[in-house]
Amino acid sequence: MSRPSGAAKPARARTAYVCAECGAEHGKWQGQCAGCGAWNTLSEFVVEPAAKTAQAARRGGWAGRADAPRVTALKDVRHTEQARVSTGIGELDRVLGGGLVEGAVVLVGGDPGIGKSTLLLQAVARMATTLPALYVTGEESLAQVAGRAARLDLPLDGLQALAETGVETILAHVAGMAAGARPRLIVADSVQTLWTESLTAAPGSVSQVRESAARLVRYAKETGTAVFLVGHVTKEGGIAGPRVLEHMVDAVLYFEGESGSRFRVLRAFKNRFGAVNELGVFAMGDKGLKEVPNPSAIFLSGGSTRQPGSCVMVTREGTRPLLVEVQALVDSSPLSNPRRVAVGLEQNRLAMLLAVLHRHGGVVVGDQDVFVNVVGGIRVQETAADLPVLLAVLSSLRDAPLPEKTIAFGEVGLSGEIRPVPNGEERLREAATHGFKRAIVPRANAPKAGALKGLEVIAVERLADALAAV
Ligand code: TYD
Ligand code: MG
Repeated sequence: MSRPSGAAKPARARTAYVCAECGAEHGKWQGQCAGCGAWNTLSEFVVEPAAKTAQAARRGGWAGRADAPRVTALKDVRHTEQARVSTGIGELDRVLGGGLVEGAVVLVGGDPGIGKSTLLLQAVARMATTLPALYVTGEESLAQVAGRAARLDLPLDGLQALAETGVETILAHVAGMAAGARPRLIVADSVQTLWTESLTAAPGSVSQVRESAARLVRYAKETGTAVFLVGHVTKEGGIAGPRVLEHMVDAVLYFEGESGSRFRVLRAFKNRFGAVNELGVFAMGDKGLKEVPNPSAIFLSGGSTRQPGSCVMVTREGTRPLLVEVQALVDSSPLSNPRRVAVGLEQNRLAMLLAVLHRHGGVVVGDQDVFVNVVGGIRVQETAADLPVLLAVLSSLRDAPLPEKTIAFGEVGLSGEIRPVPNGEERLREAATHGFKRAIVPRANAPKAGALKGLEVIAVERLADALAAV
């Protein structure tokens, strides 16, 4: 017998199993996630009933209200340009897309010790001089935070701090503040230490992290408060525990760097208010993180680049060109299936490029191990790296350095053609600015009228032309 509508059983909390990789929900525990195929990623999660909305709808609560949702022509929707606040750190503003947007929730991920707390403390202290801000720490004591701030000579006048991990307590503290002092910016360091009373799971578990973050996201959207969440990255590279956090927030920034190097790269991985792939570059020193506004020079290996197996390229990450060095090592392989290893580049693309090199360049590397690396721990995702990779491979194979002060960029097609890449002139200007004398580039990227001062441009159409040029 069917139940009359409106007399449904009262909703009760139920248990679901959520995958930490893809966020898929399952009714019961299983070893492998049916959504993404990952193993041992499901953990228990209590789902609260959606009682309030359902009841409100039953009482006809929505229909009569002025703010009831209704279908609207999009052109009639009033909108304002999102207000952005500068963080006081130019490189951070750049990665955020030109400053922090009101009500935005930004997740900053990175390995432990990379400098997330330092960066956010520097940013929030500067922002606190113009708007009320709160730094919530769950990992360090207030004395530690104050000590670091003093060592970094940060202005501390407007900045409030709280050592607390319970989300409800944090929000109660905020609600208890006088309206004028209520923070417009909250930093939660880190999201892994947060927990909410509504769940019994242990702090740090997937469900706690997800639900605590959800509370803060809700608060941010309701009040227009900007929130920075700090998240530690696991060995696998995702934010520890829930990948699901990435869907909930407006922007995900990753803070990366090579161990042993003092340079750090902040990269937008997702951004609802700006471009992804934008890079911010910092150097860690004894006074905290300093911006590196002109990062090209640091990604060259320094010293002489006239080594066999090295080629400098101009990549364009986000909105600015960047000189980086691609290195290759080609060595005869004892294996029947020689190795192809790419660090900072895509592995499959390397295999494809080597095939093109063989077929259209007549260069045999089938019996050689090939290792390719981008110096400085940076990742190059664009196809402009194709030509430099092949030139570096050839240079290593022949054990002969490329001509001095030479850069290259260009996409290599499967039929051996060299294809143009966006913003060729801007890349060439960057190379000229840094004193390079020769550029091997796709024909369509060569400047049409006049040459750049001091830079000889060698325009190539086919892979064979490029190989002949070196
Ligand atoms: P931290 O911001 O605590 O890292 P995270 O929050 O990502 O775990 O950074 C700690 C590291 O930075 C630590 O190894 C020391 C180094 N550091 C400096 O070199 N100089 C400084 O001025 C500061 C504050 C930290
Ligand atoms: Mg920290």
